[in-house]
Amino acid sequence: MAGRVIAIDGPAASGKSTVARSVASAVGFLFVSSGHFYRALAWGTVVEGIPDEKLNDWVTESPLTVEDKENTISLLLDGKDATPHLSDPEVAAKVSQIATFPCMRDFVNSRLHALAEERDLVMEGRDIGSVVFPATPWKFYLDASPEERARRRARQGDEDPIAERDRLDSTRVTAPLVIPEGSIVIDTTHLSLEQVVDAVIARLGNIEPLNP
Ligand code: C5P
Repeated sequence: MAGRVIAIDGPAASGKSTVARSVASAVGFLFVSSGHFYRALAWGTVVEGIPDEKLNDWVTESPLTVEDKENTISLLLDGKDATPHLSDPEVAAKVSQIATFPCMRDFVNSRLHALAEERDLVMEGRDIGSVVFPATPWKFYLDASPEERARRRARQGDEDPIAERDRLDSTRVTAPLVIPEGSIVIDTTHLSLEQVVDAVIARLGNIEPLNP
């Protein structure tokens, strides 16, 4: 039986990950960052030096495996855990470029759909409510002013070209970042984490926790 999906989309540093994690723990669903899938693939292309014209062949060989252990998703690339590398500067610089390729998106989407076959999920990303799970009744779009997003990223100490990532993510042809139809838009600029989480949970209606 297919699980339920709470979709949380938005631009870089809009607060999606932190909010999605908290909502997942509140409702007892599995937290999934779809960005981690793209980052793990970007790491693989950097380490292995895969040129753009070889991406299709490379990703078709299925270099990435998904482990769902103890309520946490781990991504393994050729058996090596990608987790420590997901925020590497080379990965942040590459990820939005490889995410423009339909072959990469098809690969990630097939893994995300497979997860939803087994589990109830809170999934965050750029196209979850618009493309990956458009039929889910629980869609949220988080945003914050560019200044606030830059401040949040700087506080995390990331070397991350978020303005350039946003530009690529919003202008690409396949699955660009958009406000999904039917989604609830929350501007998090002046809200605390708790306020955003409460706002999301208040809109879930009668969704039942798995482990009440
Ligand atoms: O969410 P995160 O910042 O980790 O995502 C990294 C990048 O992965 C995004 O900037 C975007 O290029 C890509 N991405 C995507 N579609 C998603 C999630 C992430 O294209 N659903």
